[in-house]
Amino acid sequence: GAAQPVIVAIDGPSGTGKSSTSKAVAAQLGLSYLDTGAQYRAITWWMVTNGIDIDDPTAIAAVAGKAEIVSGTDPENPTITVDGTDVAGPIRSQEVTSKVSAVSAVPEVRARITELQRSLATSAEKGIVVEGRDIGTTVLPDADLKVFLTASPEARAARRSGELKSTDIQATREALIKRDAADSSRKTSPLAKADDAVEVDTTELTLAQVIECVVTLVEEKRAGK
Ligand code: DC
Repeated sequence: GAAQPVIVAIDGPSGTGKSSTSKAVAAQLGLSYLDTGAQYRAITWWMVTNGIDIDDPTAIAAVAGKAEIVSGTDPENPTITVDGTDVAGPIRSQEVTSKVSAVSAVPEVRARITELQRSLATSAEKGIVVEGRDIGTTVLPDADLKVFLTASPEARAARRSGELKSTDIQATREALIKRDAADSSRKTSPLAKADDAVEVDTTELTLAQVIECVVTLVEEKRAGK
């Protein structure tokens, strides 16, 4: 018969290759794909666009349910809209990037986004690769496979700088460390490795090697090892 849907959780800080790896693994295995960071960025974009005071968690909580966020889960063409508007570009702006940690620390925001994530994960027919910070610990604690990607701060900053086509690795490194510290120290569902997650240090690995490693882990799970 048809294979059971497989649920893969991929967590870790920024710059570890989470998105590239998750997309490629999903495409290779014919699974759906969900970028949960994009959802937190989308709700942050909505807050910024609507003039909500980012330093006021009560104000953020009050409107946490207002934006309609829709994620397309095709790994070849992941899309994200807010109230019908394509926000794939604007959610990567420096303004959104600098404000997303504050918005995503608000419990009402997390409850709302977590609900969306669970509903997408359970409706994926063939299974799904979900990437984020708290997928293995909180969103999908029963995932079939949990992977936690790490890399040295230098490697992460260099990768992010490459993405931004910027030469200012030092500034990128500082912004990235600040965001990871905020994401790891928040009260509600911080960035953390689940006890049963497989940790993969990507510092010395190429993207192709990381993809191959995760694909093998999924195949081993499917084979019931
Ligand atoms: O993966 P990313 O850099 O696009 O994520 C943006 C921010 O969203 C990240 O700094 C913290 C937040 N986030 C989160 O709190 N929980 C998740 N599951 C995914 C992202």
